Amino acid sequence: MIYLDNAATSFPKPESVYVAMDTFARTSIANPGRSGHRMALASERILDDTRHLLNRLFRGESPDRWIFTLNCTDALNMAIKGLVNPGDHVITSDLEHNSVSRPLRALEKAGVITLTRVASNDGYLDPAEVTAAITPKTRLVAITHAANVLGTLQPIEPIAAAVRAAGAFILIDAAQSAGVVDIDLARTPIDMLAFPGHKALFGPTGTGALYVGPRVTLRPWREGGTGGDSSTEVQPDALPFKMEGGTPNVAGIAGLKAGLEWVLERGVEPGRLHEVNLLQKVVDWVAAHADHWGILGAWDPDRHVGALSLRTPEGLAPSDIGAMLDTSFAVAIRPGLHCAPYIHKRMGTFPDGSLRLSPGPFNTEADIEVFLQALGAITEGML
Ligand SMILES: Cc1ncc(COP(=O)(O)O)c(C=O)c1O
Repeated sequence: MIYLDNAATSFPKPESVYVAMDTFARTSIANPGRSGHRMALASERILDDTRHLLNRLFRGESPDRWIFTLNCTDALNMAIKGLVNPGDHVITSDLEHNSVSRPLRALEKAGVITLTRVASNDGYLDPAEVTAAITPKTRLVAITHAANVLGTLQPIEPIAAAVRAAGAFILIDAAQSAGVVDIDLARTPIDMLAFPGHKALFGPTGTGALYVGPRVTLRPWREGGTGGDSSTEVQPDALPFKMEGGTPNVAGIAGLKAGLEWVLERGVEPGRLHEVNLLQKVVDWVAAHADHWGILGAWDPDRHVGALSLRTPEGLAPSDIGAMLDTSFAVAIRPGLHCAPYIHKRMGTFPDGSLRLSPGPFNTEADIEVFLQALGAITEGML
């Protein structure tokens, strides 16, 4: 199988991730912080080391500000529902994944918040338009760093600065950028950063994290046992335990730790460049077949991550092409709306969506060649 669906979840993982999870599961998988024995301490140590690695990679204020979550959706919900109050105004964009759009739209429909959805231009947000939407009631600006349908990388630095100047909070959805784009929390005033562990950080599914900056106080939306402090009647105030009730996914986090080590060793920008260089070949092919194919959004390799959406030929639905690629050519891509309906409405590709491909670090030019030959064969056979 040629796997070109890394924007959904990365595959394969670096070998060290499989080894770390297997070793940990066979030797130390005890309940962290709950018991004093050496296996529990080894388990606690994995969590601690991983928080340190996250803090090193993203230069956060301290390791205890990193909350482990189930995935990026969990982190985004934790941030949104833990922060907003009745009467608040929230700003978001038409590029967002449903894990941002749905909780915000549900709060808007329930009359809890008012919501402004800023439109992107050819896949990019204009910082001036986001800033212009800020009102005295704006508490939260929740936007993606890299659009999951289009792969376009957003100018979060000026937006974060404007939000900070206005006294509001900014939540960045880094699902498609964490691990392939440098995010410097010491330099950019980001209040909350949410991402999955299972995409470009190469942990397994079931992992993710939320960074909670020093200005932010969140209400926990899951309460329960935290191991360390069992005496208080309600959730303890100290991070990360305040937000982490229940036994964490320690085996998964052992894998995430190995994934983070792999990313730290390889460096972040080389990962993005490898993927964008592979996509350039697809962009060139599309330009040569522009009668039938197109790409969604602007293509600027310096401001793009490794995901690209193709507009399919008239009469050929993305889902049909996806099935043909899978069954006849053993190529895995993702057709459809990619959980992001607003941008497809804007691009005119709703409800069928597009064909998204997203190479990873282990894909080669030969893989892209096979994909493009398959597209050529499908186009010739069906038109
Ligand atoms: C931009 C973006 N945000 C959020 C998510 C949700 O991530 P998860 O599936 O880890 O909850 C995704 C998943 O593809 C995404 O691309």
